[in-house]
Amino acid sequence: MRLTYIPIENTDADYAARAAIARAEAAGSAAGVPMGEEDMRWVDSHRKPGAFCSREFVCAGGNRIGTVSCIEETDDGMPGNHALGLTLLPEYCEVGVEEPIFEHLLEIVKSVGGQVATACAGDDRAVLSAVLLRMGFECVKREGRPELDLAEFDASRFAPTLREVERQGIALRSLVELSEEGVDWALNCYELSRELVLEVPALGHLRTCGLDKFREQIDTPWWFPEGWIVALDGERWVGQSNLIPYPERRDVAVTVLTGVVESHRRRGIATSLKVTALERARQAGVRFVHTDNEEGSAMLGLNLRLGFRERYTLTYRKTL
Ligand SMILES: CC(C)(COP(=O)(O)OP(=O)(O)OC[C@H]1O[C@@H](n2cnc3c(N)ncnc32)[C@H](O)[C@@H]1OP(=O)(O)O)[C@@H](O)C(=O)NCCC(=O)NCCS
Repeated sequence: MRLTYIPIENTDADYAARAAIARAEAAGSAAGVPMGEEDMRWVDSHRKPGAFCSREFVCAGGNRIGTVSCIEETDDGMPGNHALGLTLLPEYCEVGVEEPIFEHLLEIVKSVGGQVATACAGDDRAVLSAVLLRMGFECVKREGRPELDLAEFDASRFAPTLREVERQGIALRSLVELSEEGVDWALNCYELSRELVLEVPALGHLRTCGLDKFREQIDTPWWFPEGWIVALDGERWVGQSNLIPYPERRDVAVTVLTGVVESHRRRGIATSLKVTALERARQAGVRFVHTDNEEGSAMLGLNLRLGFRERYTLTYRKTL
């Protein structure tokens, strides 16, 4: 199959075409979440000018069958590293186009003097993983991306844990309830998050984003106070878990930061927070929940105990 490439522009037509490809790819899995046009515009507006070495539609027989991207990674301390991305219509997965597409991307990395190329694949993309390994990429990281189908989630299994947490005098409240009582949830959650993310490097930006940015979450498409649960020990805010449905697919949600202050750990609080957030999400019509966890982390173990299915994202790297 002869493949050609057309540069992607920031026009309405190209955003619509990119979103259609993302929607088709996501439709290939039950809990797949496409990135919508608005989110794409938002992400692009926050990129440095000239961030992309290349961003193109992949065409075959006159049809746009996918999109590719090559972007220099500047945050990972690895000079010359370029992240390669591929979104492909499901009918073109596994028909042999992945290898020529990645060869094209590697040529781009070489043409800009890049020394390293990195690509990611879910553990359900066996063909893509095999192609990358054949092309000399090496698997360098495996991160947990556990998934839960709320139709199979049995909250009653955790009722004894929730009762025990309540017996210890810990109250679990959603931001809806706290806001109704006039509590300044933003200030308290901001301070708590800043403490908790010290142990979660991936969410480190929450330490520097500022209280104003924190308050700005209200009334964005991502605002879901029903699924943001905090644990209070009297006046003290000791833990939180939050979960957000995707604006593009309200039946799929991602859990963001779950954490409990050190003095209150191993008392069932994180379990109770998550069970409560999952139940609220189910009541709001969410069916699938996923998250990202470091391999071997306490949080991954906790999620698997809750019934999340083990899934992984694999990172592949090739030195040129
Ligand atoms: C991970 C974290 C949220 C757990 O909170 P917690 O309230 O202590 O968790 P729970 O008491 O509900 O623990 C439930 C079970 O999870 C597992 N677990 C929890 N912490 C664990 C740890 N440090 N090591 C191994 N297993 C652990 C255990 O199986 C535990 O059951 P047990 O105590 O009966 O053995 C807490 O350690 C934390 O806030 N860490 C820092 C923030 C963070 O890393 N968050 C995750 C990324 S968003």
